[in-house]
Amino acid sequence: MLNKPCTVDMKVCLKSLHLINPTVLTSGVLGVSYSLMKRVEEAGAGAITTKTITKEPREGYWNPVFVDLGYGYVNAIGLRNPGVDVFREEIRRAKKIIRIPIIGSVGGRDLDEFVYVAEEMLEAGCDSLELNLSCPHVSGYGGDIGSDVELTSKIIKEVKSISEKPVSAKLSASHAKKNFIEKYIDAGIDIIAAINTLRAMVVNIDSMTPVLSNIVGGLSGPCIRPIALAVIYDIHREFPDIPLIGVGGVEDWMSAVEMILVGASAVGIGSAIAKKGLSIFKEIVKGLEKYMEEKGFRSVKDLTGYIHRN
Ligand SMILES: Cc1cc2nc3c(=O)[nH]c(=O)nc-3n(C[C@H](O)[C@H](O)[C@H](O)COP(=O)(O)O)c2cc1C
Repeated sequence: MLNKPCTVDMKVCLKSLHLINPTVLTSGVLGVSYSLMKRVEEAGAGAITTKTITKEPREGYWNPVFVDLGYGYVNAIGLRNPGVDVFREEIRRAKKIIRIPIIGSVGGRDLDEFVYVAEEMLEAGCDSLELNLSCPHVSGYGGDIGSDVELTSKIIKEVKSISEKPVSAKLSASHAKKNFIEKYIDAGIDIIAAINTLRAMVVNIDSMTPVLSNIVGGLSGPCIRPIALAVIYDIHREFPDIPLIGVGGVEDWMSAVEMILVGASAVGIGSAIAKKGLSIFKEIVKGLEKYMEEKGFRSVKDLTGYIHRN
């Protein structure tokens, strides 16, 4: 064990994005209005990712869109959002009252849509952009785009050419491969966030039908954490210089520590809010700080990827 320091530095830098602590509201969960985003800041988050926003409004799918399995959740909201022309007002309002970074999650079905939404998000004041290359249940968006590495590299390059702010790629477990990430880095990606939900299905044996109106959705929560950990571990081993936001099943300070040990600079928190409410942000920051103090780490940076140095 290292010598015990007096204080622990909880700040983290994801390229030029400065966070007061490593907790990030992940996309799709509460980042839908300026007032909810303000509540997330008050709850102690280090950064906020907005819901994924597309050019046109999207109604999303009919209910049921969310199932609690006990060990995780399956959702198929269908990228419901008001469209960027309406949403940019939420960001403008949010930027007037929120000091922590706001990461705008950009959705699109082609290069032009990504660039359009990215431009609007930047103009509205987002501190960073996250390209959704991974939503598993909306045809033509997310994972469908993410499977075409040439197209996604082009999207990254174009968005980077219009953005002075850091740009991250939100990847699914299946697309977080070495040969994909090499291309994303060549295209200029600054940060990687992984993982998104995993394509999943729930069946009702009484009605003998799928439970979700969309039939398939995305699995999240504690049951996907071992998969997310392996993805972050692999990316950090191959690309130790790229900042990672580890997402998937972070539900307490211990699981945040796991994610940081394997290579994450920051942790995304989503489903756990459904169970624990917004107090989870402070709970994680406090627990992580105490853990680092006890283990003798001075900063989150020192803890990041520690498992690889053993
Ligand atoms: C209800 C819900 C909506 C989501 N919407 C989005 C979204 O709009 N964009 C996105 O990139 N990810 C979305 N996600 C995925 C989360 O950002 C996250 O990657 C995933 O849920 C795993 O993290 P968790 O286990 O902490 O929830 C959504 C997840 C949930 C549960």
